[in-house]
Amino acid sequence: MRSANCVAAAAVLFGSALAAPITDPCIPQLDPNPVARAAAVSARRDGFIYGPSLTGEAAPFPNGTLGNARTKADYDEWNKDRTIIDELIALDVQSLQAAIQTNGGLNSWQDYERILYDGQLNNTNPRGPAPGIISNATQDLLFSMERLSEHPHAVRRVMANEPLPFPLDDAITSKIVGSENTLQSLQAGNRLFIVDHSYQAKYGVATVVERFPVACSAYFYIDPESGNFLPLAIRTNVDADLTYTPLDSANDWLLAKMMFNANDMFHAQMLHLVVSHDVTESVHQAALHTLSENHPIMILLERLMVQAYSSRIVGEELCFNPGGHWDQLMVFNQFGCRQFVTDSWPVDGRYQSGYLENNLRARGLIDANGQSVFNSFPFYDDAKRIRDNYFTFFTSFVNSYYKSENDLAGDFEVHNWFNEASTLAKAQDFPQEKDLSKKILIEVLTHFAYATSVSHHSVNGGAPIASGTLPFHIPAIYTAIPKEKGVKDLMPYLPDPATAVLYLGFMASFNRPFYGSDGRTLEDAFDATTVQRLNQDTKSASKALLDSMQELSQQIRSRAFDSQGLSQNMPFIYRTLDPAYIPFFCAV
Ligand SMILES: *[C@@H]1O[C@H](CO)[C@@H](O)[C@H](O)[C@H]1NC(C)=O
Ligand SMILES: *[C@@H]1O[C@H](CO)[C@@H](O)[C@H](O)[C@H]1NC(C)=O
Ligand SMILES: *[C@@H]1O[C@H](CO)[C@@H](O)[C@H](O)[C@H]1NC(C)=O
Ligand SMILES: [Fe+2]
Repeated sequence: MRSANCVAAAAVLFGSALAAPITDPCIPQLDPNPVARAAAVSARRDGFIYGPSLTGEAAPFPNGTLGNARTKADYDEWNKDRTIIDELIALDVQSLQAAIQTNGGLNSWQDYERILYDGQLNNTNPRGPAPGIISNATQDLLFSMERLSEHPHAVRRVMANEPLPFPLDDAITSKIVGSENTLQSLQAGNRLFIVDHSYQAKYGVATVVERFPVACSAYFYIDPESGNFLPLAIRTNVDADLTYTPLDSANDWLLAKMMFNANDMFHAQMLHLVVSHDVTESVHQAALHTLSENHPIMILLERLMVQAYSSRIVGEELCFNPGGHWDQLMVFNQFGCRQFVTDSWPVDGRYQSGYLENNLRARGLIDANGQSVFNSFPFYDDAKRIRDNYFTFFTSFVNSYYKSENDLAGDFEVHNWFNEASTLAKAQDFPQEKDLSKKILIEVLTHFAYATSVSHHSVNGGAPIASGTLPFHIPAIYTAIPKEKGVKDLMPYLPDPATAVLYLGFMASFNRPFYGSDGRTLEDAFDATTVQRLNQDTKSASKALLDSMQELSQQIRSRAFDSQGLSQNMPFIYRTLDPAYIPFFCAV
């Protein structure tokens, strides 16, 4: 029965004894041509060499004849999309420049909102900005809820037994939070949260355009009255080391949130490199060394790794090169970028710790039962659905190819893969080969697919152009930061028109608005072509996967503001993880 998967199909397709011994994908112990298969695996092992990491010290980068050929092919494939998006960017930039010129520059906060976005970016971002993200940008609830939606990877609870990250006067805290609350009482009540970007103080600042660094840490809290998640204080950690709160003047507090945004954008973009690209490339390279091209797992991994080895090359060519996008636009220079990756890989690059619930639980954002501790956690809602859809798919897939644990025990290719992942391929916190079970394999595959979809597109892809909107979300600060409070004019802190347009073009370059029409979005991950050679259970599971992703997409697309002007308790609409929009792979 099992071998029917492998051999019978081959007999039908290639019945003649003279025909090439190609079989349907199967696990190695069922392969009718074990010698040829082993030789092919061995040839791949020789052709792919683990080369040094690119962009910081993280996953190895492929070298060797096959490795280099793969990288080149991926790059060429990526380059086709780059040509398309570059043409769209050129159209949008032309139109932006004309609008700015007609307006006589960008002379007010409203100019940034209106001139840069009203009827603009039609080509690169036809979906438009996230509704409310511009009009409600100055609201505190927008800023805090971004931690639980658009920028979900940096916030964590201040645990009951840890020292307070930074001080805040009791009088100030109780005035903001009410009812005699202090940092200690919030902490003790599991209501105090922190985003700590103080580590960024050590990074060098880019000098192509003059910019001024901050390394903000920020407190957030769950309001005892409303249950809302709100901002409490922002400390800059540089120069005069001011701590701002909502009690400051509107301008001071707004500037503090914008300074924080510059640090948070740096974090989100650099972290995405680690948690999606590096994590999957290390594990996939181990698979290239150990699994046959005819292994059913390899068929699925290859699909998820479309264009994968272009990204770090592109990063070195366009983003992290001297004078590249980061030097041009962000606070910290190309060396800071690489340092972030090196520092973050042993921590955030951890495989099992990166599983959705493991990660959120470790940060105190969900409880032991997997329940969110917030009155609304939009990222978790959608990320969990996508993860669960994939989990269901991989459960069917694994159960159909391994009827028993014994079948898995006999799959020496998968055992070699697990062995190699955490050794030569340097994957962090990958499950040990001795622990391999169907359950562990399902989890590994699920997280792999989660990493190329949710981990990547929650903060990259179409997210930055749609939600990292100016003037609130600045990539850097363009005037010396204040030595004291009482800032009158925010204009000097904003990017000038030329920098703003360059920035929008750069953010748009991550977007792939044309993937919906050419079958490269998440819902099409395991489309008919991909599963064509796989077994019937997998084909059925792939149809169910499509249905479940489409259902989520429809729910996301039907989100609207309620009578309070809120959606999921936020003053903007979260649609970043729409499975009919985001790619299933790390597109750039
Ligand atoms: C890639 O592999 C070749 C051949 O083994 C070696 O000579 C070269 O130094 C390697 N490149 C890097 C960057 O390690
Ligand atoms: C973009 O689309 C909007 C709405 O369809 C339209 O009003 C506007 O003129 C377009 N802008 C450009 C530059 O084509
Ligand atoms: C947020 O913005 C939308 C769109 O401009 C608006 O309809 C809604 O009322 C705003 N919400 C709040 C809370 O101000
Ligand atoms: Fe990326």
